[in-house]
Amino acid sequence: MTDTLETVPFSTQIRTATAQQHADAENSTFMGDLLGGALGVDAFYRYTGQLWHVYRALEAHGDILAADPVAGRFVRPELARLAALETDLAHLGGPDWRDGIDPLPSTAGYAARIEECARTWPAGYVAHHYTRYLGDLSGGQVIRGTAEKLWQLPKRGDGVRFYVFDHIPNPAAFKRKYRVLLDELPVDDLERQRVLGECRNAFTLNTALFRELAAEFPVRREG
Ligand code: HEM
Repeated sequence: MTDTLETVPFSTQIRTATAQQHADAENSTFMGDLLGGALGVDAFYRYTGQLWHVYRALEAHGDILAADPVAGRFVRPELARLAALETDLAHLGGPDWRDGIDPLPSTAGYAARIEECARTWPAGYVAHHYTRYLGDLSGGQVIRGTAEKLWQLPKRGDGVRFYVFDHIPNPAAFKRKYRVLLDELPVDDLERQRVLGECRNAFTLNTALFRELAAEFPVRREG
């Protein structure tokens, strides 16, 4: 039997719809250079500083969104990343870390879009929430391990706390429950299509950031 759109769980639809973009993000020049050891810890600090703007936007409206019938069930204190990012940035950038995190144009645009969704379109906010937090709970763990080794950062300590979810002991189980929440998203089919589009947009915004970071941290290649 072939699956129709109706029988495919929404979480699977999202994953399928963004699979190519996910592969593109994973294989982006910046990620490849960063995790391949071609870049220094300054590039990691710069990237972490950009994430601060993204997570400030994601977490700034948490109290209001927590009460929202669509977005509320996704907003969980154990996911919150801003405090961890600030600890990491202080470790990587020193006491004046705030001076080193001015947003790139792509970051400013990404954060503005999240803010807009948070204020005006809770289901669109869910798309951004999914794209970041479920990614952090998955591939984020690959990034953490590599960063610890490459730049001798304390294991699961300052510098990589963003990737450590102390209050989520079983990420696989957490992700399973999260996907059920996506499957049960209380919106109609048309709105689901719009959410899918916003997930794609979220990936596009991440890719734009990687492109700008690659331009800021060029690597000379042989040949
Ligand atoms: C080097 C970079 C990356 C690596 C190595 C990586 C790796 C992974 C891995 C191994 C998974 C688990 C797949 C599964 O559960 O079957 C995953 C899932 C995910 N990643 Fe990434 N990823 C990277 C970058 C990104 C980026 C930049 C984003 C978007 C901001 C992202 C978003 C996601 C999402 C949303 C999921 C959950 C998919 C789902 O189960 O619905 N990833 N990633």
